[in-house]
Amino acid sequence: MEQYVIKGGNKLVGEVEIGGAKNAALAIIAAAIMTDETVVIDNLPDVRDVNVMIGAMEDIGVHIERIDRHTVKINATTIGRLSVDYEYIKKIRASYYLLGALLGKYKKAEVALPGGCNIGSRPIDLHVKGFKSLGSDVDVSYGLISVKAKRLIGSHIYMDKVSVGATINIMMAATLAEGKTTIENAAKEPHIVDVANFLNSMGANIRGAGTDVIRVFGVNKLHGTEYSVIPDQIEAGTFMFAAATTGGDVLVKNVIPKHLEATSAKLVDAGCQVVEYDDAVRVIGKEKLTATQVTTLPYPGFPTDMQPQMTAVLALAEGTSTVAETIFENRFKYVDELARMGANIQVEGNVAIIRGVDNYTGARVSAPDLRAGAALVIAGLAAEGITIVDDIHYIQRGYERFEEKLRGLGALIERTDSENDTQKFIRHVS
Ligand code: EPZ
Repeated sequence: MEQYVIKGGNKLVGEVEIGGAKNAALAIIAAAIMTDETVVIDNLPDVRDVNVMIGAMEDIGVHIERIDRHTVKINATTIGRLSVDYEYIKKIRASYYLLGALLGKYKKAEVALPGGCNIGSRPIDLHVKGFKSLGSDVDVSYGLISVKAKRLIGSHIYMDKVSVGATINIMMAATLAEGKTTIENAAKEPHIVDVANFLNSMGANIRGAGTDVIRVFGVNKLHGTEYSVIPDQIEAGTFMFAAATTGGDVLVKNVIPKHLEATSAKLVDAGCQVVEYDDAVRVIGKEKLTATQVTTLPYPGFPTDMQPQMTAVLALAEGTSTVAETIFENRFKYVDELARMGANIQVEGNVAIIRGVDNYTGARVSAPDLRAGAALVIAGLAAEGITIVDDIHYIQRGYERFEEKLRGLGALIERTDSENDTQKFIRHVS
């Protein structure tokens, strides 16, 4: 099993280049099957979740050619099956984007029902409500969700809760429905806008993405396109927090600073300096950070996907901070691992109360999920001594060349897959 071995204590200094947004990419490659023409997608992150989605699409017969590490050419005329296997959905919930895409194009789809996951129960009732409202029959039985419709008819859909996945799934299906669909209380995340832009570049007529009312005017057909995925705001934020925790000075390049406003604001609250450029942000850390209060909210609020990394920063801030998680019910699993590194954090309900300590001490810890894993790495970079992070397959779901990028900033970190290599690295850096 691979692990990260980290010798903490180096301030991160330098420049890092951010890749394409994983969560935009997952929806965009799924949506690419909605045309019979060829689609080229660029700035695709080479991360495990995206590669699993590509596997799921190839499994139903989609032809996907990798032009280079970050570019694929997709042609869906060869689709042979409208049913996506459990093998994929158990690895990535986002394979349910194929439901919206297949339903829109073929008026029929079947995907194994996703279960809960490490960050909490993850219902799909809003997706179901949307598909039904467009005129589909939805059947949930035998562990499968099956949707079919004779015709998809535009409709007015109010989302009882803001959901990124349901907004995207409904938007995709409605693109090829007859007439106008209005999605109210839609999610506003940057990747919603990116998916809408992508669909529009294929001939869709979607307006209002990025606001809480999206209007989709159905079209008969979509055509091929070439499209570049937006930068990953969560990857960017993770490096910003790594800079802050180590008291470093990092220029995070190839980002859209507007997407990072909530993150930047909290780093400024904690005492860091954040300088925005056209397509970069520079974070200058401070010897001693100050406590602050954070609440996760749908965009433009503070992202839940940045919550563990923020907690890792605040564990070293002077005073008492609070972090309230309002999106997922079980996203504090990593707190016990941070405690093993010396953090003083108490979780009460959905709030973590963080009493700042002077430093982390290296320990062997285990990543419970993707973003929590990144938070443990951040803590390890700031810790005294050696930290070993196990279960890094979670981290590899969403970060491309994570250790290489951190090394480029002066971190002492190695990915190893044997005790021998781990001990070799420890001897080398000690
Ligand atoms: C997306 O998940 C992201 N995943 C998640 O990123 C992210 O944490 C989340 O949005 C919130 O920003 C992808 O884009 C692939 P939601 P999604 O539907 O779409 C409830 C990461 O680390 N809900 O916006 O599944 C749900 O339980 C990941 O990259 C319903 O009640 O999230 C949650 O409380 C992890 N019914 C809230 O809505 C539904 O039908 C928001 O979930 C759907 C969701």
